Formats: sequence, C-alpha cells, structure tokens
Amino acid sequence: MKKRFFIALILLSNILFAGGLYAQTVWLDQLDLSAATQGYGTPRSNKTVDGRPFTIAGKTYERGFGSHAESLLTIILDGKATLFTALVGIDDEVKGQRPAAEFVINGDGKQLWRSGVMHLGDEARPCSVKLDGVKKLELVVTDGGNGNYYDHVDWVDAKFETTGVTTFKTYNPVSSEVYILTPKPSASPKITGAKVFGVRPGSPFQFMATATGDRPMTFSAVNLPKGLKMDPKTGVITGKLTQTGTYNVVLKAKNAKGVAERKFRIVCGDRIALTPPMGWNSWNCFAQEVSADRVKRAANAMVSSGLINHGWTYINIDDFWENNRDSRDQSLRGKFRDEAGNIVPNSRFTDMKGLADYVHGLGLKIGLYSSPGPWTCGGCAGSYGYEKQDAESYAKWGFDYLKYDWCSYGNVIDGLPENDPSKVSSLSYKGGNVLETAVKPFKVMGDLLRQQPRDIVFSVCQYGMSDVWKWGDSVNGNCWRTTNDITDTWTSVKNIALNQDKSAPYAKPGNWNDPDMLVVGHVGWGNPHPSKLKPDEQYLHISLWSLFAAPLLIGCDMEKLDDFTLNLLTNDEVIDVNQDPLGKQATCLQTMGDLRIYVKELEDGSRAVGFCNFGLDVVDISYKDFAKLGIKGQNVVRDLWRQKDIAKIDSQTSDLKIKVPVHGVVLYKFSQVK
Ligand code: GLA
Repeated sequence: MKKRFFIALILLSNILFAGGLYAQTVWLDQLDLSAATQGYGTPRSNKTVDGRPFTIAGKTYERGFGSHAESLLTIILDGKATLFTALVGIDDEVKGQRPAAEFVINGDGKQLWRSGVMHLGDEARPCSVKLDGVKKLELVVTDGGNGNYYDHVDWVDAKFETTGVTTFKTYNPVSSEVYILTPKPSASPKITGAKVFGVRPGSPFQFMATATGDRPMTFSAVNLPKGLKMDPKTGVITGKLTQTGTYNVVLKAKNAKGVAERKFRIVCGDRIALTPPMGWNSWNCFAQEVSADRVKRAANAMVSSGLINHGWTYINIDDFWENNRDSRDQSLRGKFRDEAGNIVPNSRFTDMKGLADYVHGLGLKIGLYSSPGPWTCGGCAGSYGYEKQDAESYAKWGFDYLKYDWCSYGNVIDGLPENDPSKVSSLSYKGGNVLETAVKPFKVMGDLLRQQPRDIVFSVCQYGMSDVWKWGDSVNGNCWRTTNDITDTWTSVKNIALNQDKSAPYAKPGNWNDPDMLVVGHVGWGNPHPSKLKPDEQYLHISLWSLFAAPLLIGCDMEKLDDFTLNLLTNDEVIDVNQDPLGKQATCLQTMGDLRIYVKELEDGSRAVGFCNFGLDVVDISYKDFAKLGIKGQNVVRDLWRQKDIAKIDSQTSDLKIKVPVHGVVLYKFSQVK
C-alpha cells in the first residue's frame, strides 16, 4: 500500500513538473554567462570581473554574476519565469576609484526595473521583478553617466522562480558570423592611396605611388616637378622641392594586363598630412614589449601582406623605446640621456637611424613617441627640459612622425619637474583642462619640429582636453586625440564614436581629429588576442573611422593578419572615403531610434553615407529622407564595402531598402547623375 502511494506521488509530481506547475528555482550563475557583453574583462560566474569573491559595502556574497559596465545579458525566458530577484551593487574591489553604474532590467523591450545610479560603498540594492509572460529579458548595466572606468558590477543572490523549467538560454544579439565583403582586386593595375600629398620646401620628399594588380608592375609619373624622381620599380618618389606651389601629376602603373592612371596633386607649402596618416602603431598590440626587431617585422608584414599597396605607410613606435624609470626588465633600464642631454634609446633599440633607414628602404615611413612631461605614460624618459635635443634627434635619425603624449606634464604644473622618480606620480590630467597650460608644451614641441630639416607629422595626444581641436593647428599639430584610450570592446568603440561630432568642423587637410587607433586583428596591449569586437562591430568601426577622416593606425600584430582583418583594411573604396582630399569629417545628420546616419562630403561632390546601427535589433527600413542628408536629384548608389552600384534613386520620390545588422553598418556613396 505504502509503495503504491509513493509511486502515485512520483507519477503525480512528474505530471505537475512536465506541465510546469511546479515552481523551480534557477540561479543566474547557472546560466551560460559567456553570452554577456561588457565593457571590460570577461563575464564571471560566482566571482567578480577580477576573479575575486563578491563584496558589496563590506558584505560578502557567494553566488552571482560578476561583470563590468556597460554590460548586457539577454536571457530567453519564453514566458517560463515568474519572478527574478537579486541584489545589485558595485564591488568593493575597486576601492579608491570612483565608479558609478546603474542596473536596469528590460522585459520584451519595456523597462521593468532600475536601480538608480549606484556608487562604491552603496549597500546592495534588492530587486524583485515579476516576469509572468516575459519572453526576452535583458540584464543591463549602464555606466552611470561618468564613463565606465572601474565599474565592477555584481548581480548577487540572483535567481529566477520558474514554472518548472530548470534552465534558460542566454544569447548575444550581435552576430558572430564572419563574412568578407571586400572583392579581391583585379589582376590589371589600379592606383590606390592618397590623391594629394603635402611637403614643405626643402624637406626630403618621400611618397610611394601604390597600386593593386599583378606583379611585376612598372610605375611612372607624368609632369613630375623638377627636383623629384620616381623609381619605376617601386613607385617611390624622392627628391626635394624648393618652389612652393601645386603640381598636377599623373601617376601611371603598368603590368602585363594593362595600364592604369590617376591624377595626383603635390602641394609644396606650409602644410603636411593633407590626408589622414595611415599606418601601424605598436601600442595596442605590444605595449611595453616593443622592440626594434618587432618594429622591423611589422614593417616587413606591411609589405608581405600587401597592405602597402593600399596606401598604408607609417610604422610608428609608441612608448617604451626609451629607458624606463622603474621596470624590472633590464632591457629597459639604463641612462635616460647622455652628457649632452641627448635621449638614449633602451637596449632594444640600438640603432635608431638604421631602423629608420630600413623602414624607408621598404617605401614606408617611421614614427615614434614621447611626452612633454619628464616621464611618458609608461614611466619612460620624456622630453621635458630637453625638447630641442629631442626634436633634433628625431630629425637626425630620420623620423617622420611624433606622437607627443601629455601624461606626466601635470607634474610639471605641480612643480615636480625633476627627473627624480620618487617625486613624480604617473598619469595626471591636471592642468590639461586649463587652456594656457594645455597649449604650452605642445607649442614648444610643435615649433621645434617645424625648425627641423625634414617634415615630421605632429600627433598631439592629450585625450581631447581643453577642446584641442580648436587650437591643435596653432601648435602645428597635424592630428590630435579626441578621446581617452580605445579598447577592443563595443562600449569603447561606441562611446568614442558617439562623441566625435563636436570636433568635426575642425577637421581639414593637415588637421585631423584622432579617435584613437584601430582595434581589429590581434590586439591586446602586450597580451594579444583576436579583437573582442564582433565582425559587424569591426565593419562599423572601420567605416566610421573612415567617415571621420581619422588617422588610420592599425593596432594589431601584423604577423597575424587573417583574411577577415585584411578584408577590413584593403577596401580601396572605403579607404578613399578616409583619404578624400576635401578633408571633411562626417557628422550624424539623422537619428532614427538607434540608427545614426553619418554623412561625409567628398571632393567630387558625392557623399559617403554610413547607416550605423547602434541598437540591438536589425534595422530594416525603406529610406526616403534623402534631403536631410543633402542628397539632391538623381543619384547612383554604390555599396562601398561590396564595391558595387546597387540602385539609382530620385532623391524626391525613391525609397531605398536598407537593412543594417545589429551593431553593423551599411556604407553607401551617393553620386549625383549630371
Ligand atoms: C597613453 C596613450 C596611449 C599610449 C600609452 C603609452 O595611454 O593614450 O595611446 O601611447 O599612453 O604609454
């Protein structure tokens, strides 16, 4: 009897369970949290983002989801959860910092709960959200309005009451599909790269005409002014111009399949960097591990990968070619300067001139890095007090580019200028927000660079303080950072992108706003890994930086370029948008929900338009507001990534079907039919 009773009970409970009548608890930490996206680190189960036990306002918790703003976890509930409860807060592990973040819960597109902005030390806030019927739940953490620095956020004791199910699927709304859009270049020659080049009278001239197509290829130039000559094998033009003026040249490239030609303008005058600098920089990949050998290998890879044939030119050494103040790595220790005050490179860079010659010999150019303070951001020797010697060293070695990075200059303002490590702290923004002190050190170096017997592109790096775009030109700056350091996260790229419009009117030939380097390929600041940006995010990143007329500095390991990354970096029609001689920067002319439409005017009267989807739903629309984008009359619409004309539209009457993936882009060019 007893036995039968138990069997009946088990059967009944099975029926109830299958019918979903049994409440069941599912802990958040049991779900697959790897689908979450976040601004830093990786999502963690039962640990903080830094891998520690959870502590909020002094209390510890065992279970939960450790993340970092901006963060999003999408959970498919399919109506099978009734309640979500949790405690939320900022983890104590970031003591001493000033994080702020807000926790938000959305169900089927509606906001169900928000925590209010939380700070470090706030007691964990309880949340209890009824979920009956909710199909898709989003756990979101925003940056609390002050950027996402140190926003280590915890969802602790977080659990669902369910209708009987024992788990839920999580999901990342941004596609992981890798797809290649850039067509392979044809075998016949096609000239690529900049259409205009600026040089100062008397400076050594170096410009490489570039082309795609089968090799061998022979280059020539019609109407090359006196003083210049072209190497027909490499396309490199060298020499010197003494007369200011504009020289209209025609570049030609010939191979077994045919001949291509393109107009090219040389402007000899005051201004250089007439198109945004394109190249590579060591920082995002190697950081403090940079060496002359790695720089040479990057330069070699620029050639062997074929990137050189698309206009990529600069090979820039970032921080850590100088000796360091406190590194334990002996290769970075040594005299900062010689008796005459000349900078002494560290032991990884034994021959700066030899290195510059090597890079020039490949047809490329070379750059390096310093700081106006006594120390660079990484604690290496900076230029403070030795600016003249440094500018002269750079010129003597044959460098073409200097990135000059604020960092410890705040200490100079604080009256701590000595080269005494015990007296200086590292990075400080102090003084950078006061116009006078912000301008001063850059003016010193900018003027000194102008006095050198060669053209050195001056890249001002102070993260956009004191609206640098308004005065960067006055210190001879050719480009200036408009932002803090980029990382390979969607949060970083998105926030930088959304912040560029205010500086846009100041972009012009010789003056470029710099939203920081590219985070595609293997990046990782000394610990390289494939960029965490999803493929669509990478298309958006490259499209936007091209529309922004931004310096394009590849930040990845050049020896690990894969087909997808090469496809991003070798699309000549996308590069042409960036390099357009008119030098305008795109701005957002229309917003439709999360779709932002960026428009860049081009020299030939056409417009490059980026339909950029910053949201989490695919945008699928019939677009007709062409007048808002300044598009008039009949236009041919060209898909730049696919390099294909896709439609003819009448700006007044046509509808254009536009489908933009989540965090992706559609990049079109509209050319009026005359
Ligand atoms: C700062 C800059 C970076 C890089 C490092 C080097 O953080 O913004 O781009 O140059 O310094 O230390």
